[in-house]
Amino acid sequence: MNREILYENLNNSNQEFIKDFKNEFEKVLNSGWFVLGENVKKFEEEFASFCNSKFCIGVASGLDALSISLKCLDLVHGSEILVPSNTYIATILSIINNGFKPVLVEPDIQTYNINPDKIEEKISSNTSAIMIVHLYGKCCEMDKILKIAGKFNLKIIEDCAQAHGAKFKGKTTGTFGDIGAFSFYPTKNLGALGDAGAIITDDINVYEKALMFRNYGSRIKYKNEILGFNSRLDEIQASFLRVKLKSLNKINEHKRKLARIYSENLSNFYIKPIIDDRFYDVYHIYNVRTIYRDELKQYLLKNRVHTEIHYPIPPNKQIAMKGIIDNQPTPLAQEIHDTTLSLPLSYAHSDDDIMEVCGVMNKFADMKKTIH
Ligand SMILES: Cc1ncc(COP(=O)(O)O)c(C=O)c1O
Repeated sequence: MNREILYENLNNSNQEFIKDFKNEFEKVLNSGWFVLGENVKKFEEEFASFCNSKFCIGVASGLDALSISLKCLDLVHGSEILVPSNTYIATILSIINNGFKPVLVEPDIQTYNINPDKIEEKISSNTSAIMIVHLYGKCCEMDKILKIAGKFNLKIIEDCAQAHGAKFKGKTTGTFGDIGAFSFYPTKNLGALGDAGAIITDDINVYEKALMFRNYGSRIKYKNEILGFNSRLDEIQASFLRVKLKSLNKINEHKRKLARIYSENLSNFYIKPIIDDRFYDVYHIYNVRTIYRDELKQYLLKNRVHTEIHYPIPPNKQIAMKGIIDNQPTPLAQEIHDTTLSLPLSYAHSDDDIMEVCGVMNKFADMKKTIH
């Protein structure tokens, strides 16, 4: 009987940080200051420096980071924003909830990121921005995207929720466009112990606006200049994030090593993530694709290997999107959603865990090959 391999066990992933978390928690508790304090300020400086960006603004979640990013760019109300058709729902929600119209662009079936060659045909006189998503931990092909944005004078918002520290040609996600939005949901490569997010930018005007938006539109206490939100990062989460940020490169490198083990040992029966030297991938998710996805998921579970699907239903097929984007056909997104399977790959997994998953996966592949 195989031992159980979970998709993710946050208790294990956080194990090496627990002593520091406890110390930091005690310090915050004793300080008596819980929201927007010294830890938030220091985390913002440290995360900006990690990304090689001028400014960082800590907020309450990744969704808020996207929403505030949109607010800061002064886009024409009701304008169209291009967005990949296979992203997580949050990206699209931020567009709709802020009064913009999402226009879906199909992904590249090899990178799973927005296909730069499909962007231009979706641009209209109402398009104001492209909200790109560095999905699964791979940076988008930014040279092509920047060229198109420049040609049509479009703003670029980068959804970096799954790609902390990922790079394209040596440059870090979040620093290519006008603004980058991050989630620190606990399962992310840099994960808090609750909800948290951040925005990065090189533009001081955007920075100052974002500071106001997250705090009731206020720069000076009780003086409200714009219609803001309450999206403040708290001291406890910021202190935990500071602990883990010191190890983010190590976490990313660990995930890259495990991904390499999968890529080298998994049968070519599966479609594996593409490897290209121009990209530094951080593998928030390691996915494979097969038409036998559902059967494989069951087979793995029977062999005590847990997997996930990112994502089972494309955004335009969600009930909530009826009458909003369900009239935009996305066959490629559908194909990905029907065939993709995310394999266990976390900071807590060992080389042996991955080899064990490969063994079970390859047995399934052999079975299928002999049948056909
Ligand atoms: C691509 C993407 N965008 C945005 C978000 C939203 O982040 P949060 O859950 O922190 O609001 C997520 C989180 O899962 C995500 O994966």
